[in-house]
Amino acid sequence: MQRLTLLSLGSINADFQVRVDEPLGSRETLIAHDLSRLSGGKASNTAYLAARFGHRSCLLGRVGDDELAEQALAPLRQAGVEIDEVGRAAGRSTGVSMIMVPPDAKKHIVLATNANDCWDEAAADAMVAAIEACEPPACLVLDYEIPAWVVRLAIEAAARKGIGSVLDPSFPDRLERDLLPMLQAITPNASEAEALVGHPVDSIAAAARAARELQRAGTPIVCIKLSDGGCVLTSAEETLHIPPGEVEPVDTTGAGDAFTGVFAIALLEGLAPREAAAWGVAAANLAVTGYGSQPAYPERDQVASMAHGLLAKARPVDG
Ligand code: RIB
Repeated sequence: MQRLTLLSLGSINADFQVRVDEPLGSRETLIAHDLSRLSGGKASNTAYLAARFGHRSCLLGRVGDDELAEQALAPLRQAGVEIDEVGRAAGRSTGVSMIMVPPDAKKHIVLATNANDCWDEAAADAMVAAIEACEPPACLVLDYEIPAWVVRLAIEAAARKGIGSVLDPSFPDRLERDLLPMLQAITPNASEAEALVGHPVDSIAAAARAARELQRAGTPIVCIKLSDGGCVLTSAEETLHIPPGEVEPVDTTGAGDAFTGVFAIALLEGLAPREAAAWGVAAANLAVTGYGSQPAYPERDQVASMAHGLLAKARPVDG
């Protein structure tokens, strides 16, 4: 089989994660336990998945020149992710996420973007050169936890190479709408979709409406990740609701990245949008059954098997 490449561009972080036994905000000071120091960030997480799924995985982004860079990069190196194109921002700290996971599994993240926001022209040129040097078949998956001008350069470079781009629009206020027609797919969650379309996305019907609006704005495949773990997909063929799987969530950290990463990988492998979306839902649902992002990510066989069952329950959304 031809080697497929996933290029991941976006945030690369050192995650510091704790569990708390009471709802967040219930006291001024909460007691936490089980501190984990992990590799995190949206680009790191999708890159990790691509390597885990057996593909060439190339990470693009920025870390600092501090010891936290190793916390972010070592597990990726070990998983087989190519990290040679990750730049170092001199005198800056690596991005840090402080993550609290309460009993309801719904994580809260405070992100210090640090080196993720430290791009200069030379760094951007090197990133563009890496995309230009990549031989298709390939897919670029990217997020907005880095400057918008860098995202634009990457999408334009990928388009010149015939490489599809799959965008996680976090942070949605950074999205420049003229880029929408240059994307292969976009994967907002419900609140990001609300920010993009300007109306509430609080039901399956509203998500379908929002997905079609984004599709009319130019992106052919739109997948809105719902807070219950399901999704609404709009493609050239259909608008479909894929329900969540039946799982016991313990930690939602990195579930959205599992969706976007596996969805992009499945599209790259040539799966139809509905199958790719079911793979994304399965990956996200399995990811919430363990603590942390990368340590909780599932194997390919688990994803394929759950996705098969989910697709059987998927229903078209009219309107
Ligand atoms: O989406 C989860 C990721 O977002 C975490 O790994 C954290 O670093 C934040 O960027």
